[in-house]
Amino acid sequence: MKRTCYAGQVNEQHVGQEITLKGWVDRRRDLGGLIFIDLRDREGLMQITFNPEDLSDEIMAQAEKLRAEFVIEVTGKIAVKDVANEKIATGKWELKASELTVLAASQTPPFEIKDGVEVSDELRLRYRYLDLRRPEMLANMRMRHAITRNVRSFLDEAGFIDTETPMLAKSTPEGARDYLVPSRVNEGHFYALPQSPQITKQLLMGSGFDRYYQIVKCFRDEDLRGDRQPEFTQIDLETSFLDEEEIQEIVEGLLQNVMKNVKGIDISLPLTRMAYDDAMNFYGSDKPDTRFEMRLSDMTELAHKTDFKVFTEAPVVKAIVAKNLASNYSRKEIDKLTELAKQNGAHGLAWVKLENGELSGSVAKFLTEISDELRLELKLEDNDLVLFVADTLGNANSALGALRLHIAKAHDLIDQSLFNFLWIVDWPLFEWSEEEGRYMSAHHPFTLPTEETVGYLLADGRSEDSDLQKVRAHAYDIVLNGYELGGGSLRINTRELQEQMLTALGFSQEEAEEQFGFLLEAFDFGFPPHGGLAIGLDRFAMLLAGKDNIREVIAFPKNKRAIDPLTEAPSPVTQKQLDELHINTIDTIK
Ligand code: AMO
Ligand code: AMP
Repeated sequence: MKRTCYAGQVNEQHVGQEITLKGWVDRRRDLGGLIFIDLRDREGLMQITFNPEDLSDEIMAQAEKLRAEFVIEVTGKIAVKDVANEKIATGKWELKASELTVLAASQTPPFEIKDGVEVSDELRLRYRYLDLRRPEMLANMRMRHAITRNVRSFLDEAGFIDTETPMLAKSTPEGARDYLVPSRVNEGHFYALPQSPQITKQLLMGSGFDRYYQIVKCFRDEDLRGDRQPEFTQIDLETSFLDEEEIQEIVEGLLQNVMKNVKGIDISLPLTRMAYDDAMNFYGSDKPDTRFEMRLSDMTELAHKTDFKVFTEAPVVKAIVAKNLASNYSRKEIDKLTELAKQNGAHGLAWVKLENGELSGSVAKFLTEISDELRLELKLEDNDLVLFVADTLGNANSALGALRLHIAKAHDLIDQSLFNFLWIVDWPLFEWSEEEGRYMSAHHPFTLPTEETVGYLLADGRSEDSDLQKVRAHAYDIVLNGYELGGGSLRINTRELQEQMLTALGFSQEEAEEQFGFLLEAFDFGFPPHGGLAIGLDRFAMLLAGKDNIREVIAFPKNKRAIDPLTEAPSPVTQKQLDELHINTIDTIK
């Protein structure tokens, strides 16, 4: 029999008709000889009734054997139920079965196929195909599809050419570690899976494509977090001859279109722009969550008036005020905050409470002389808790930025219905890496410095590091609710500037030529000014789905150790495969 429609699509028009449905047994109930089945498919549920008065013993016996997750085909007439089930869309009707075929039996699944099921992430990934049967997972994946469908139609309309770029690419140092692929025919040589199509999309601008886009897999071997997977997807675009604002305008149009069509939410344009320095100073983050305030205040001047050594000896003293929360914080609770501050770079945390008009707390005795000014400057009210970090600017910002987020989450200060898009602009070109002991690109080595500050780069290359701090970039990140949603920039398009940039990053002339020679050469052949951006599709879908892990919007993600528990990739391979690839492994797998 042919399927008439999806179970979830049965409606008024089917009443009195004989129809056929195919799907999974969601639930079976036996009631005084009657057998009820909830039949499930991707569109919803439909109640099937097996009545012994209408059916042969054989069919009834078959119906009795049905268990959860059996795949069946049923035919019968649609009737109006005496009592409607308001919980499901098809709850007014039942299908009175006349025929039943079992298409596939099922073992008892390792977890119930229903929303909100409490089961470990590892088990969900191990049986991902069952996890994806759960309606909320299917809804997430369909929302992701709605996003890509809208992105494609918007960018097609705007004249962008969808172009595929190689997955077997050249290894170039770009930030994260590469995933390498050995070449069989070129012994000892390796491809790299692209961390992003950055250079290839730039080359397409050299080809005169003018507007490129691709919804593309990217690969980065980095430590995994809730918003990071080893393979993830970018909505990647590049344009020629446009300035920063023009590119941002296209991206804003794209975001507005997706928000409207996927979520039914109007966002007003232009989006807010915030300078990088302001983001760091007021929110302690380059991806501030602006759904709540609790800004960082610079208290250095006031703090330096005290006799408190911790304050007077630190270059910077900053504070946040947890409004009306002092009574929630015992010493023990504050110790936990101190721990968090330390994990985020602070050497300590000082605090005072305003209670019954009096300042109390770890450093209150040092603040008596400035107490009036402090109250005024921070607009303190009773039951406010003030947290101070005395440190370098960077450490004070990152520690208080982390406390700000922690406190907001702990006390539900964030309005979850908001979607706060925000551009972070006016970036530094470089950032200092403690780990590497050198300056690194804040974005990537192809980012264009601003005309006003490029002199600091050209003047001295790598020799006078202090000047590199002053170089600003034509770069912009798009932030949504405290997540870095996407990043982009105008790019360098001349050999001279690109070589200077690579020198500043510590590449020797030979290394620069070996790694990026092909790009430098391309710049010699009439290369247009260009720029673009990439949005993390997984993060976008995660935020629109209201989740806090991108695994929830990826069909087959990896776990925290970069393993797929379902297929058990990565796995050992045969000696023959290794031999063909000219690879010897050191025997550690056993
Ligand atoms: P960037 O490195 O900022 O820029 O990446 C762009 C966006 O991709 C997402 N993203 C990730 N998502 C999930 N897992 C990961 N491991 C991961 N890494 C990045 C983020 C990020 O904002 N080529 C440049 C873009 C450009 O300049 O045009 C680039 O890749 O949402
Ligand atoms: P101490 O003099 O080290 O005992 O510190 C006195 C108070 O200052 C304690 O509450 C510490 O937690 C706090 N404190 C220490 N170092 C810092 C710092 N760098 N910033 C803010 N408070 C600090």
